[in-house]
Amino acid sequence: MQVQKLSDLYKNWAELEQHRNSWHNQTLEHLFARDSNRGLRYRVSAAGLELDYAKNHLTDETLKHLLSIARQADLPGAIKRLLGGAHVNNTEDRPALHSALRHIGAPITAEHQQVEETLTRMAQLVTAVHSGSWTGYTGAAITDVVNIGIGGSDLGPRMVTKALSPFHTGHVRVHFVANIDGAEITDLLKQLNPATSLFIVASKSFSTQETLENSLSAKAWMLAGGASQGDLAKHFVAISSRVDTAVSFGIAAENVYPIWDWVGGRYSLWSAIGLPIAMAIGMDNFNQLRAGAHAMDTHFAEAPLEKNLPVLMGLIMFWYSNFFGATTQAVLPYAYHLQLLPNYLQQLEMESNGKSVTKTGIPVDYPTGAIVWGTEGTNGQHSFHQLLHQGTTLIPVDFIATLRSHSPLKHQHRLLFANCVAQSQALLTGRNLQLTAKELLNQGANPIEIERLAVHKVHPGNRPSNTIVMDLLTPHSLGALIAAYEHKVYTLGVLLNINSFDQWGVELGKLLGNHVNIALETTDVPGDWDSSTAELIRRFGVANES
Ligand code: F6P
Repeated sequence: MQVQKLSDLYKNWAELEQHRNSWHNQTLEHLFARDSNRGLRYRVSAAGLELDYAKNHLTDETLKHLLSIARQADLPGAIKRLLGGAHVNNTEDRPALHSALRHIGAPITAEHQQVEETLTRMAQLVTAVHSGSWTGYTGAAITDVVNIGIGGSDLGPRMVTKALSPFHTGHVRVHFVANIDGAEITDLLKQLNPATSLFIVASKSFSTQETLENSLSAKAWMLAGGASQGDLAKHFVAISSRVDTAVSFGIAAENVYPIWDWVGGRYSLWSAIGLPIAMAIGMDNFNQLRAGAHAMDTHFAEAPLEKNLPVLMGLIMFWYSNFFGATTQAVLPYAYHLQLLPNYLQQLEMESNGKSVTKTGIPVDYPTGAIVWGTEGTNGQHSFHQLLHQGTTLIPVDFIATLRSHSPLKHQHRLLFANCVAQSQALLTGRNLQLTAKELLNQGANPIEIERLAVHKVHPGNRPSNTIVMDLLTPHSLGALIAAYEHKVYTLGVLLNINSFDQWGVELGKLLGNHVNIALETTDVPGDWDSSTAELIRRFGVANES
């Protein structure tokens, strides 16, 4: 069977391997000691973000090899094709034109025109809801907006709405429901009044089980709360690329906002899928978010590879995955409001690049799609940072920090920033046995205690990280940050020769979910199913026997 190897794609692979092998005794501390300017040299700015990548296992020579790989993969051409609307999603034969959703200025293409029209309709709806002229079935203004969606129709809007809390206009409260577990919507509905609630049914395909079931439950709740069938148009709007299906489902045609096949679900928060964001922060701020992303698109298109922020992020992760055995990457935003960013990036990175065949269907023999995980600092320091500092796996970290804060508690912001910087410093320098023993001695420990404890307290150090800094978390800087990660993911996809824009791997679970549901309903388990699955189904049946 033919297998794709990166060494067949890139002619300098053996040289890069040799370069990696020459590395073994060289530490990050050596690199900093050798070049007092390292912290200034390995730094790049774009669209209000600064990426400090000095605390990585790389030198000019490493970058030379990695940039050569990027050129051999024709990354510059691939960027042009992405932004120019070529069918980069080859298995679905479509473009991935999320950049068109945040185009600024007069429309140039038909896609820009469609985006403009939808933005105008979104703005009208937001104004009507905020001003109170959009009323519910009793004539009262809307106080609560609920987004029902999952995956790309939930994670982006949910993350951004939380991230931009300081920009909420206060006109309405915005909530999110995703899970098929009825507990989520049940808990939420207890807090709401049907007369003043507006539901956004967000589903690109309008066929997603979770979203349709939650919408039916919301509809039943609305009718039970006193609304008539005819009142539902005052309480339900939808966003979909299947406008007809949304209408057949019962959404009034004038309440359906389109998205298009050329918008991938996990790249869709800039489209009408961003309606809950606009409800929370207003249309002007939503447009600032789009503008920040557009600024990053322009940088991605125009900056040379060696100064291109998303390209460098991608190349660095490519280096660690292929030459340091890194299978995961931690994203640690030191900003409470960015607490949902790691969840959002999990879909962006893992649904995009968790693939095992090339664009043309050849099995790969190299790692793709690293596992992305993390949480906001400083919380993570009190849970998993132990493993980052002393565990046995190499985990590249992205620290994200803001120089200023919206919080009036400035001293707490200083402490937050201090913790962020200190974590990357501790990962870099560590603390060796000698220093650890000395410290224990200074603390009054006796030689026996020092002998027993010092080894446990050693921090190996030499662990890499990026730090992404912005002045303040604003719609503009957040837009730039998200777009930077989108383009990092594409960069990796191009280097790995995979399609970052399909997600066939989610299909089988959905199909089998339907089959299992039928088996649970009928208690009829096909004889060729495995005995573990059959027993789980039997147990459920027994527990739910009426
Ligand atoms: O199951 C995965 C997925 O298809 C994601 O790619 C998508 O973002 C999510 O489901 C929701 O899909 P939709 O917007 O069509 O309901």
